[in-house]
Amino acid sequence: MGRLEGKVAIITGTAGGQGRAAALLFASEGARIVGCDVGRGYYADDEVTGNSQEYGQWTAKGLDTTAELVRAAGGEMVTMEPCDLTTEADAEALIQLALDTYGQVDILYNNAAKGEFAWFEEMSHEQFWRGMRQELDTVFLPTKAVWPHMVAQKRGSIVNTASMSATKVYAALPCISHMTVKAAVQGFSRHLAFEGAPHGIRVNSIAPGLIASPSTGPYLDDPEFRDAFLREAMIQRVGTPADVAYTALFLASDESSFVTAANYAVDGGATGM
Ligand SMILES: NC(=O)c1ccc[n+]([C@@H]2O[C@H](COP(=O)([O-])OP(=O)(O)OC[C@H]3O[C@@H](n4cnc5c(N)ncnc54)[C@H](O)[C@@H]3O)[C@@H](O)[C@H]2O)c1
Repeated sequence: MGRLEGKVAIITGTAGGQGRAAALLFASEGARIVGCDVGRGYYADDEVTGNSQEYGQWTAKGLDTTAELVRAAGGEMVTMEPCDLTTEADAEALIQLALDTYGQVDILYNNAAKGEFAWFEEMSHEQFWRGMRQELDTVFLPTKAVWPHMVAQKRGSIVNTASMSATKVYAALPCISHMTVKAAVQGFSRHLAFEGAPHGIRVNSIAPGLIASPSTGPYLDDPEFRDAFLREAMIQRVGTPADVAYTALFLASDESSFVTAANYAVDGGATGM
C-alpha cells in the first residue's frame, strides 16, 4: 500500500522542477494528483528550457509532460493550465477542479512561485510587491480557497515552500524581495498551523537550498555561481527536486501526523553552517 493511498493532492507549479518531482512521487505512492502551472509564457525563453548540461533531467520544463509522465507510470493526474495563482479566480478554479474530479482534497502543496531578484537600490516598489504577489499570493490564495473544504472534512495537510533564503544571505544573490517573502511564507505557515490544529489541519513549510530546476538551470553550469553556494554547504552537491519531494511526501502523509508548524531545511546543511 502506498504512503498516500486514497488521498487527493493538489500540487502547484507542476510544469517542471520540484512540482513535477512531487507529482511523480506522490502519484507513485497512491495519491491522485491535481496539478497546475501558469504556463510557458511566464518565463523568458532562456529560462523556459533550463540549459544546464549536468542537471538536464531536472531543469527541463514542459506543461503537458508531467501529467503524461504520471499517467505513463500508472498514476492519476489532472491539470489546470494556464493557471495564474496570483489571481483569486484561478486559485478557486483549481480547488474546484479537484473537488469536481475527485470529490475531496487531502493535501495542498503550495510549491509554485516566481521570485524577483534585484539589489535594493535597483528594486522599485512595484517590483518588490510583484515579488510578494508571485511568492505569497500563490500560497495565500489556494490556501484560502481550500480551507473551508479541509475544515468541513476535518483533515488536511498543507505544505508550503519557503527557502533557505528566508534566513541566509548570499553575497552572490540580490535577494531583498525573495528573502522577505520566503520569511513571510514561514511565518504564515506557523500561524496557520495554530489556526488549523483544532480542525485537524496540519501546516508545515520546507526551506530548500540550491536545487536544480528550470529556474536555476541556466546558472548551474557557471562554476562561480555554484561555488558561491557550495562554499557554505556541508554536503557538496546541488540538491535535486527529488530531495525536496521526499520531504514533502513525509509532511503530506499521515506519517507526520504529530508534525505541524515545522519548517524543514532541505539544503545540504547550508543553514546549519
Ligand atoms: N530552485 C531552487 O534553488 C529553490 C530554492 C529555494 C526555494 N525554491 C522554491 O521552490 C519552489 C519550486 O521552484 P523550482 O525550484 O521547482 O523552480 P521552478 O521555477 O521551475 O518552479 C516553479 C513553478 O511554478 C510555476 N509558477 C510560478 N508562478 C506561478 C503562478 N503565479 N501560478 C501558477 N504557477 C506558477 C512556474 O511556472 C514553475 O513551473 C518555488 O517556490 C521556489 O521559490 C527553489
